[in-house]
Amino acid sequence: MSRIFSGIQPSGELHIGNYLGAVKNWVQLQDRYECVFCIVDYHAITGHYEPSDLRQRTFDMAVSLLAAGLDPDKCTLFVQSMVPEHTELAWILNTVTPLGELERQTQYKDKASRQESVLAGLLNYPVLQAADILLYRADLVPVGEDQVQHLELTREVARRWNAKFGVSYFPEPKPLLTPARRILGLDGQAKMSKSLGNTVGLLEEPEAIWEKLRPAVTDPARVRRTDPGTPEVCNIYHLHKGFSDQATVDHVAAQCRSAGWGCIDCKKVLLESMTRELGPIRERARDLEAHPARIAEILAQGAERCRTMARETMAAVKTTMGLV
Ligand code: TYM
Repeated sequence: MSRIFSGIQPSGELHIGNYLGAVKNWVQLQDRYECVFCIVDYHAITGHYEPSDLRQRTFDMAVSLLAAGLDPDKCTLFVQSMVPEHTELAWILNTVTPLGELERQTQYKDKASRQESVLAGLLNYPVLQAADILLYRADLVPVGEDQVQHLELTREVARRWNAKFGVSYFPEPKPLLTPARRILGLDGQAKMSKSLGNTVGLLEEPEAIWEKLRPAVTDPARVRRTDPGTPEVCNIYHLHKGFSDQATVDHVAAQCRSAGWGCIDCKKVLLESMTRELGPIRERARDLEAHPARIAEILAQGAERCRTMARETMAAVKTTMGLV
């Protein structure tokens, strides 16, 4: 059976961007594959952060993921820093990673341009990501579009390590994308992202979601209620594709093209679809939050399973490389 690995930063609660782009897909994949999902706290320390918040954000992310439908009986969920082999393999992979490739990574260039002094951890971030995936020799990596370049680098690193040591030990993992691979923020300008402050939290109440949806940017061609629109250029339509059933999605598109509905009508229907899907998730999250010991146990068991796999990989890697 193919093995799946994916990771997510401990940014606290999930937002509908990382939910639709990745996590909703993870929930479906756990029925069909052996799945390992990781909350990547070692990645989260490459930018500015408050040590006193990190643990809570990690806990909140675990709550969100479990509430969204990850099932510890079907998949393995753990926190990266609980499995030290991630950093051990990252060091090793650094020795086969071309510096030029790291400097070319779009996310690195973006983040580095916003920092006064650039730290090595930011540059080497994708090497740790490669180690995450290769440690479990995963074949498939379900991610949003913004991670595809990092995945390309992982493939290159796997290829180079195999070639250098004359083996074919690491598979070259492939990205698994969904149609919701790039959800924009409600400003319609940039990717929905916690650091840009343009997110809708997965656990927000419907009233709070409506406050954000109501003024959200739609197709700029629809200036007046009677102007017909093009659903494909509207972020609200893409959210419908994530949350509404196919019949509603088709109806929404037809109403937009014919100016049958105004954008507010379309948003009201979206809110209904979101409330239907997110209501039960919110309830599960409340229940999980009330049982922190259960969350800790799930993460500890996940880490234990991962450590067994990780030790096996490290033993093979070290033997191949002539390390003791
Ligand atoms: P992160 O935490 O930024 O995002 C987690 C996942 O959600 C996807 N995503 C989105 N998809 C669509 N639209 C959006 N607006 C959106 N925002 C986020 C991301 O593509 C990602 O799949 N570097 C990674 C974490 C990581 C990882 C890994 C991923 C570390 N090691 C190994 C895969 C495999 C990151 O920061 O994701």
